[in-house]
Amino acid sequence: MARKINFNAGPAALPLPALERAAAEFLDFAGSGMSVMEHSHRGKEYEAVHDEATALVKELLNVPENYEVLFLQGGATALFAQIAMNFLEKDTTAQYVITGAWGEKALGEAKAVAAMFGANIAVQNVGTGEGKEKSYTRVPAPSEVKVDPAAAYLHVTSNETIHGVEFGVDPSRAFPETGGVPLVADMSSDFLWRPLDVSKFGILYAGAQKNIGPSGVVVVVISKALIEKGRKDIPKIWQFRIHAENKSLYNTPPTFGVYMIRNVLSWLKDQGGLAGMERINRKKADRLYGVIDGSNGFYRSPVEKESRSVMNVVFRLPSEALEEQFIAEAKKAGMVGLKGHRSVGGIRVSTYNAVSYDWVDTLSKFMEEFQKGK
Ligand SMILES: Cc1ncc(COP(=O)(O)O)c(C=O)c1O
Repeated sequence: MARKINFNAGPAALPLPALERAAAEFLDFAGSGMSVMEHSHRGKEYEAVHDEATALVKELLNVPENYEVLFLQGGATALFAQIAMNFLEKDTTAQYVITGAWGEKALGEAKAVAAMFGANIAVQNVGTGEGKEKSYTRVPAPSEVKVDPAAAYLHVTSNETIHGVEFGVDPSRAFPETGGVPLVADMSSDFLWRPLDVSKFGILYAGAQKNIGPSGVVVVVISKALIEKGRKDIPKIWQFRIHAENKSLYNTPPTFGVYMIRNVLSWLKDQGGLAGMERINRKKADRLYGVIDGSNGFYRSPVEKESRSVMNVVFRLPSEALEEQFIAEAKKAGMVGLKGHRSVGGIRVSTYNAVSYDWVDTLSKFMEEFQKGK
């Protein structure tokens, strides 16, 4: 079997050992004579998987005692609405720092909730062209973010998957300092790429399908104090409190997705945990940006250097025709998933944890050769 070199943005490449483990256990999980998918979510076999996945998130990310780890459904998109539903009340304000298309989507859902509850949303748009997707090329320095001390929370998208701009890669682009205002971060495309000080955040959430597993699960790391503050008059299924009280087993969880997360995180631990992962991820990004910057303008990154993402490296070629040719030739060489998002075009290389340095090196050499041939 020839596996592809997969640079998909999500669902994305998963570590081969995690997939092989799933294959080996697929029909007969832990000698039970059943697939893990066939087990009750309340049985001891699944419970062990669920607990191990939760413990691995806590261990890898060094999650403080006063936080909960939840596995929910509906993707990060459901969380866009759920966060607003839990924490907005009449006459309160939530702040949204918008650095790309996913932040815009989060904002849209929050506005709908705010309208229902008589709450307000304050927006800081950090793009250069008033919300046009093409114009997002940077994240703000902490001093640029104006925090309202009375805000219910401040929301950021830590990595904009489409535009390739990310907080916290360069020290000058650290996450904003929000004081007592809970910082909420959509980390869908950069969850667990490196160690992080969780205590700076009120909520981290991430659709699993990029860095830690298959689609269908969203991981939420949330402070217990915020859980307590959440509204009690919304449907139970949307209350973080209910999911925390029930260990994410209030209703049937996506059991196979959680199982795959367990496999991926156990692999991640074997790679030296998040410190080991950060070293590899930075090396991959340096290799790619090195080719781009050394290409005399043949490859162009639209993103300001300090804001460049380690997870989604986006760039342009001199023409759309060359971009198409690049993608087609890369495909012939076994590399897939390089087409930029349809809203912005160009090339996007997603270099999540499961994407090896060797894959990135193969692509980098291909880029150098491709340029030489032009
Ligand atoms: C940063 C970010 N947030 C949110 C989403 C939406 O996630 P989902 O499709 O799981 O709802 C995506 C998906 O690509 C994303 O990249």
